[in-house]
Amino acid sequence: MQKLNKDYEIVSQIYSHLMKKVRYDFWADYLYMLTQEYVSKRANVLELGAGHCSLAHHLKEYYKKIIPTDLSFQMLNSSKDKKLRRVCCNMTSLPFQTSFDLIFSCFDSVNYLIRKKDINNLFSNVSSLLSDKGIFTFDVSLENNSKVLIKEPIREGKYKGVIYKHFTSFNKKKRIHRNEFEIQLKNKKNYREVHKQKIYPFFDYFRLLQKNGLYVVECFNAFTFYDADENSKRVQFIVKKTE
Ligand SMILES: C[S@@+](CC[C@H](N)C(=O)[O-])C[C@H]1O[C@@H](n2cnc3c(N)ncnc32)[C@H](O)[C@@H]1O
Repeated sequence: MQKLNKDYEIVSQIYSHLMKKVRYDFWADYLYMLTQEYVSKRANVLELGAGHCSLAHHLKEYYKKIIPTDLSFQMLNSSKDKKLRRVCCNMTSLPFQTSFDLIFSCFDSVNYLIRKKDINNLFSNVSSLLSDKGIFTFDVSLENNSKVLIKEPIREGKYKGVIYKHFTSFNKKKRIHRNEFEIQLKNKKNYREVHKQKIYPFFDYFRLLQKNGLYVVECFNAFTFYDADENSKRVQFIVKKTE
């Protein structure tokens, strides 16, 4: 079995299938509702960890000037919307010189930063790129979400001739949520991808944001407008620059 080091190199081929129940159109509506009071429709928008760009595709109905970015070329390349101007880059080292009124990241992409140093770099990059009145909104998965996800530790399926097995586990002590994929492509070649996500304590985000000249305006239970706390499963931060 071949082990791959790069996350999403092969998983990108089945990602849309894995996410088939996710309503990205409703998710984009939610993001618009979250952000519309802070930014205008003419906003310069940057998405981090955009994956296959489904959110950007729907959100561009509201915000025309949107740039989805991701570390994985294969994920960006799998976008069905080829008109989007996509940029392959690491969210901890963003290659932009213009400022953005809205920066966002969804579906636990930030949890992929498994060292605190990387979270710090992300927040520092965002702080430099955000316009003075701009907002940064991102979601993260917390421990209670991992507890739910490990209730179904193995999933398997087949999509367009690709056979996969997905194992999920959570190391409570190290706070690492692990997703392992065994994939057999149509040509019978086997691959293994291991994705690690760090499940940081809720209050770490507040501390690290503050350290980088950012503060939390709101923090909701994801997909709602109810306040989150450390017992939430996934939380949605809305952040601004400290004046
Ligand atoms: C769970 S997927 C979410 C994708 C997309 N946001 C969605 O809603 O479907 C996580 C994404 O984060 C990306 N990612 C992981 N680490 C990253 C980094 N350091 N910089 C940019 N993107 C990263 C992965 O390549 C992957 O596409």
